[in-house]
Amino acid sequence: MAFATRRFVRAASAAAATAAAKKLVVKHVTVIGGGLMGAGIAQVAAATGHTVVLVDQSEEILKKSTKGIEESLKRVTKKKFADKPEVVLFAGAEFIEKTLKNLTTSTDAVAVVHSTDLVIEAIVENQEVKNELFKTLDKFAPEHTIFASNTSSLQITQLANSTTRQDRFGGLHFFNPVPMMKLVEVIKTPMTSQKTFESLMDFSKAVGKSPVSCKDTPGFIVNRLLVPYMLEAVRLFERGDASKEDIDVAMKLGAGYPMGPFELLDYVGLDTSKYIIDGWHALEPNNPLFAPSPLLNKLVEEKKLGKKTGEGFYKYK
Ligand SMILES: NC(=O)c1ccc[n+]([C@@H]2O[C@H](COP(=O)([O-])OP(=O)(O)OC[C@H]3O[C@@H](n4cnc5c(N)ncnc54)[C@H](O)[C@@H]3O)[C@@H](O)[C@H]2O)c1
Repeated sequence: MAFATRRFVRAASAAAATAAAKKLVVKHVTVIGGGLMGAGIAQVAAATGHTVVLVDQSEEILKKSTKGIEESLKRVTKKKFADKPEVVLFAGAEFIEKTLKNLTTSTDAVAVVHSTDLVIEAIVENQEVKNELFKTLDKFAPEHTIFASNTSSLQITQLANSTTRQDRFGGLHFFNPVPMMKLVEVIKTPMTSQKTFESLMDFSKAVGKSPVSCKDTPGFIVNRLLVPYMLEAVRLFERGDASKEDIDVAMKLGAGYPMGPFELLDYVGLDTSKYIIDGWHALEPNNPLFAPSPLLNKLVEEKKLGKKTGEGFYKYK
């Protein structure tokens, strides 16, 4: 090989290595699951200039998701232009139109995933269903595509293991309601590459959020602190040490929390809270912070699940 050719080959392979090490700039996003969280994630991604395909199981669900996004965008627009009421009509309408232009929907994840940089999964909180989805998409998504799950309570590592791209797999844990809440927890498993992690951090910033990072541990940061705190409040009440009303008042006025633990439990849903604590208890049966609560279990059995059923610790009817 002539000297000049060798130099060219060396330069080309160095450029390829640099490109491989470079972070992925996410432009095209597929969000699977058009429920509460998925619709919110699709909305903030589309509003920040990404092209987004939102996937769910039926056209009917997707219609509902799109309608919800349109309503939410109107609220966001009002807030965004609150100090400029004179431009809200034009600039606001333009912002909504641009966002909706970036957003399409589909009922066929396999058919749309071939041109995506990032898949964000926000479907039902069930390990087997999520594993099955990731296993299938792994076969159809391009090599460079990063997979992320929005799961609150499942192990990211176990989800990553259903694919062959464990290095391009991480957690992106958004908070409800997504358009309002500024936090995203970016979860790095022992197999997540640094490049993937940095790409997920950059994407979180690009959608206007403040990312924090955490290892793949139960509850990550927020729920790891919040769920045991709420369960401790239930135990305090169960022991008869204080009334639930007084515990709520105490935490609001004494700790400055916006809601008391019982109000928060009712808002989150008692079934969701029980599901999380039961999962952690199975992982660490000797950890007293993860011990199930007889009172919480009783209320769930009686279908008193909180605000959504009209009764939990409090009555809402
Ligand atoms: N609700 C919260 O406050 C919250 C907060 C953070 C994270 N999460 C996590 O986000 C995820 C979604 O939660 P949610 O509250 O949005 O649930 P949701 O029930 O509102 O929405 C889930 C959606 O996924 C769809 N779906 C189910 N299986 C599917 C499949 N195989 N393919 C395509 N779509 C499918 C359902 O039709 C539904 O529309 C869960 O993993 C949950 O743990 C929830």
